[in-house]
Amino acid sequence: MTNTLKVLCISGSLRKNSYNTAALRVARDSAPGNMHIEFADLSQIPLYDQDQRDDAVPAAVRQLVEQVRAADALLFATPEYNYSMSGVLKNAIDWVSREQPQPFAGKPAAIMSASMSLLGGVRAQYDLRRAMVFLDMHCLNKPEVMIASAHERFDAEGRLTDETTGEFIAKLVVALGDWTRKLQAGEKQ
Ligand code: FNR
Repeated sequence: MTNTLKVLCISGSLRKNSYNTAALRVARDSAPGNMHIEFADLSQIPLYDQDQRDDAVPAAVRQLVEQVRAADALLFATPEYNYSMSGVLKNAIDWVSREQPQPFAGKPAAIMSASMSLLGGVRAQYDLRRAMVFLDMHCLNKPEVMIASAHERFDAEGRLTDETTGEFIAKLVVALGDWTRKLQAGEKQ
């Protein structure tokens, strides 16, 4: 029997019909029984302001910090905005990263991206990956899930209609589980 892994999904889009959030729902629905999937809510996180932080860390940030700390692994899905990750995601990462001990350090993590373009948000992934390196997350290398032409792969209700994309997402979730267990086993030695 393996222990259950807690995975925190973080979408970089606040849009109700977000393809990235929809991709995370597919990940949740395809996750094996020994993975428990939760979602972060970035919608109440204010713009980073050092003065505000010095006063008091906002409740929405504190909640996210607790969720990150409690998670065995993180699964990000980010839109690509002007060749970068979304400001929503970067802002949330910036807030969390100021806590001590730094909550992202040593966390196994994986990335997906969905975009209406033909490149599927690849540049946003590399942008996020760079921040993850600095934050000392352990980013899964492969499979890379970049959902191109997302508007043709999800229906109006945000349901995935493309089987191959579903298979890639399911593989990513399993690989993230394996990666997390491998890193946890290494820590115990
Ligand atoms: C975009 N979009 C976009 N797409 C892309 O492939 N490369 C890009 O650089 C950009 N830039 C960009 C900037 C801004 C400000 C917006 C609002 C949009 C399109 C974007 O990928 C598309 O809207 C996705 O559907 C957003 O993801 P969600 O909200 O569906 O998850």
